[in-house]
Formats: sequence, structure tokens, C-alpha cells
Amino acid sequence: MTTATPATQDTSKATPAIKQDRILIIDFGSQYSQLIARRVREAGVFCEMYPYDIDTARIQDFGAKGVILSGGPESVHDENGPKINQAIFDLDVPILGICYGMQAMADHFGGKVHASDVHEFGAATIEVTGDCKLLEHIEDEPSKLHVWMSHGDKVIEAPDGFDIVASTPSCPIAVMANEDKKYYGLQFHPEVTHTLQGQVLLSRFVHHVCGCAGDWTPDNIIDMRVAQLKEQIGDKQVLLGLSGGVDSSVVAALLHKAIGDQLTCVFVDNGLLRLHEGDQVMQVFAENMGVKVVRVDAEDRFLEALAGETDPEKKRKIIGKTFIDVFADAARDVSANSDGKPVEFLAQGTIYPDVIESAKSHQGKAHVIKSHHNVGGLPDDLAFDLVEPLRDLFKDEVRKLGITLGLPSKMINRHPFPGPGLGVRILGEVKKEYADILRQADAIFMQELEKSGWYEKTAQAFAVFQPIKSVGVVGDGRRYAWVIALRAVETVDFMTARFAHLPYELIETVSNRIMNEIADVSRVTYDVSSKPPATIEWE
Ligand code: XMP
Repeated sequence: MTTATPATQDTSKATPAIKQDRILIIDFGSQYSQLIARRVREAGVFCEMYPYDIDTARIQDFGAKGVILSGGPESVHDENGPKINQAIFDLDVPILGICYGMQAMADHFGGKVHASDVHEFGAATIEVTGDCKLLEHIEDEPSKLHVWMSHGDKVIEAPDGFDIVASTPSCPIAVMANEDKKYYGLQFHPEVTHTLQGQVLLSRFVHHVCGCAGDWTPDNIIDMRVAQLKEQIGDKQVLLGLSGGVDSSVVAALLHKAIGDQLTCVFVDNGLLRLHEGDQVMQVFAENMGVKVVRVDAEDRFLEALAGETDPEKKRKIIGKTFIDVFADAARDVSANSDGKPVEFLAQGTIYPDVIESAKSHQGKAHVIKSHHNVGGLPDDLAFDLVEPLRDLFKDEVRKLGITLGLPSKMINRHPFPGPGLGVRILGEVKKEYADILRQADAIFMQELEKSGWYEKTAQAFAVFQPIKSVGVVGDGRRYAWVIALRAVETVDFMTARFAHLPYELIETVSNRIMNEIADVSRVTYDVSSKPPATIEWE
């Protein structure tokens, strides 16, 4: 193992210029917390989000120009209800408290919070009754804002120094403000799109109240990251596992821009990809962009390893292990053929939500824990430092970077595709014959979704191979052939999903084409299960 150096995106000590105007978001556990961060970034301002109990030193060292306190599920009246660290107020910067963040701020300064089990959830109209810098010239109708509420408790007595600026009949203190201190509290959620002026309001807070510039833009992010990658990598060699998915594609484009030929990508064709997928990846990266890509045709290795296995979990494990083996072999080959310059770095497409998620479980220590380790499961003789150039970016930012870097929008806006690929979409044993049939059916489904404009309206869509035979009739003869299921879902977070209400005509076209064009399919079904209780993949 090489010695540990911090291999996160910001390798030099100085904060990059476009990160200097920064907002600290303190997470009290609301389901909307990440949205706050995404909205602040959309306003062109860098921010980071930490759990409410982060170390005082980190609060002090962060260099915040403003702080946003998120909502959360607790009550300030709970004995263990999370409190705001005094160090945040000692920063002497503007503070915006949202929902629980507002209540905790009110509680901190001696206001009164009413505990209630009755939840107010949904659209509300607030009446703006006072002046404050935050709401100046922001309205949907004269003196009114249409907002989204989601709370039980509410502030019923503003602390000293705070004015009541807006209210609703059921929530007399919907907005409170202390203009001297630049402390604001909102009982509603500006981060959700149902609050019509929410983005304007957050943008007003970070720009006009906190005085942040709007330098956090795709072009600037690319310039910053390219400079950092050059500094971090120097003249060393970097290896990247390219999957054709959004994250690894953007990592490839960024690294190619930064270090050109020092990057080698390994693209493993596991035989479980969609139709022409491997060719498309080679075309975009190797042919059009001139990226060094080693394509490993490992179909036989994967299919042999999978032969006879029907258990979904075991199939996943086999695919994962075979990938590591194939990738490790390729990595050794690349290292052996790099003219005496061994590969020292492995690039990965870790993105910011992964970092936030692990921070939750490790109470704010994620940066330390995840910043330097070998990629899961690679053998000891292959020890690399990690390069994670997307580690501070949300998925929507990664997409914008990809487009700005010139990657095709079709690649950037494509639906997620699981690592084990068609392996989880062929039920039971995986065979080449089945994968070939499924690839064709899937391609037909995708073509028709794209043609009808439904590809963009669904979050994920695919075909599934059923290893059962069903009777059909073709001309004068009977056909005894396989069944294909179609699955299309609408979802934002993939944790819950509704089956997409595709028009019957579209389903009919897809179904007819599959049965007419693929002789081995006699029946097509459409999956109408939602998640939960079903999952998105069938397995
Ligand atoms: P489920 O089936 O759990 O899927 O509802 C939720 C989302 O996760 C994707 N998925 C995976 N992605 N490796 C991945 O990279 C996997 O093993 C895997 N399993 C499921 C699935 O496609 C959906 O978007």
C-alpha cells in the first residue's frame, strides 16, 4: 500500500477561489436537507452539508459566509432533541433556519415553540405583513407567497430581537427575522419546488444577505478541477473503470482534459450489457475523444462463472467477483505496459450524496474514513491512491459538467443501469441465448420510448426476461416461446416508485414489435407494481 495522502478533490491547502464564498448547511435530518444544498449550488454558490453534531472546530474552520439550518423530524421539547451549537452563532454570519432549524433557533434565543402531534402538510399561502431583506420584492400575489408546509411543532412566540414578518391563519409565525443579526426563520420549505419562489428566496439569502458571488458554475468547476487534478496527479498514470454510466463517463472526460494520455480506461464487456452499448462507449471515448480505452471482452468468463446459478444474491456476488478478477487482470496488463511508469492512481466516480450518506452513519467523519482506501476487493498487489473528482458534486452538477465537457446528452441523461446489468433482468439462470433475446426486446422498448417522448418522462425503463414458455400462434402454427415483461417507473429518489402510466397505444406498439421481430418471444406483459412493496428490478 502506498502511504496515505488525502486524495479528495481539494488536495492543496488553499481553498480554491470559487469555493471561497461558501455556505454551511447544518442537517437536522429532514428528508429535504440535500435539496437545500442542491438549490444553493444551483444559485451558483458552493456549500457543504454536515450533521448537526459536527465538531466545533470544523464549524469554525469552514469559513462560512452564511449558515442554513435544515428541518428535521424531532421536537425541541424532546430531551434529546438536537440543539444548535453556540459556535454557529459565534461565527457572526447570517443564518437561515428552516422548519426545525427555525424552531431550534427560536428556542435557543428564548422564544416559545408549541409542541403538536398534528401535522400541517401541504400547500399554504402566507401573508407577508412586515419588511425584511430576505423577502423584499418576492411575492406570488400582492403580499402573498405560495409555500409548502410540513411541520407539527411551530414557533408561537418570537424571541427578543425578532420580528414576525409573515403568517398564515394556522401558523402565526411563518417567517421571523432579526435584521440586525441577519437571522431568519422560515416555517415552510423553500427548497421544494412547491414553494414557488423558493429558489429565488434561497438565492436572495446567499447572494444579497450573505454576499456570496455566483462563481460556482460548470465552466469554473471544470477549470478548478482540471487544475487540481494536474497538481494531484503530476506525471503519474491513472486507471479508471469505465462503465458507460454518467459518473464514470464524466470522470473520464475530466481526467482526459486534465492529464490526456496518462489516463487509461478499462471497459469490461461482461456480456450483460444492452445492445451495442460497448460499441457506443468505444465510439464516444476512444474514437471521438481520443481517450485510451482498453476494452476487455469478458462475456465468456462471466457466463461460465454464472452457469447453473439461479439464486439472485449468488448471481450478484458472482458478477461482482468476476468483475474484480477481470479488472485486476486488466490493471496488471496496463501497469506492465506503461513504459516503466506504473499506475499509481485509481479514479472513481464517487459523488457527494455518497459522502453525505456515509457521513450520517459515521457522525461527520466520512471525509476521514472514505478519503483513502483501496477499491473494494482489489488484490493487495494492486494498491492505488484514489482520485475522486466528483466527490463534492451532486448528480445534477455532474450532468451539467458532462454536457459542458462535450459528452453526448443521450449518454448524460440516460436512465440508471445496475452494475450487474442484464444479470438481474434475466430471472433464474443467465444464458447467452436469453441475454441476446433480452437485448433485442430492451432495444425495441427503448426505441419506442424515445420516439414517443416517454423516455424522458420515466425515471427508469427496461425489459425483463422470464424463463418460462407460453403458447402463442403465428400464422397457422403454434409457437411455444419465452415471455418478456416491460417495466417503466416514475421516481425521484428510487426509494419509492410508481409504475409509469404509459399510453396503451405505446405499450401495444412495443409489444407487437417484440413479438413480431423476435421469434423466441410469444408474450409480453407490463409490470404494474409500485415500490414498495415491489422493487424496481425484478431479479
Ligand atoms: P431496486 O430494485 O432495489 O432498485 O428497487 C433501485 C435502483 O437501484 C438500481 N440497482 C442497482 N444499481 N447495482 C447498481 O449499480 C446493483 O446491484 C443494483 N441493484 C439495483 C436499480 O436499477 C434502481 O435504479
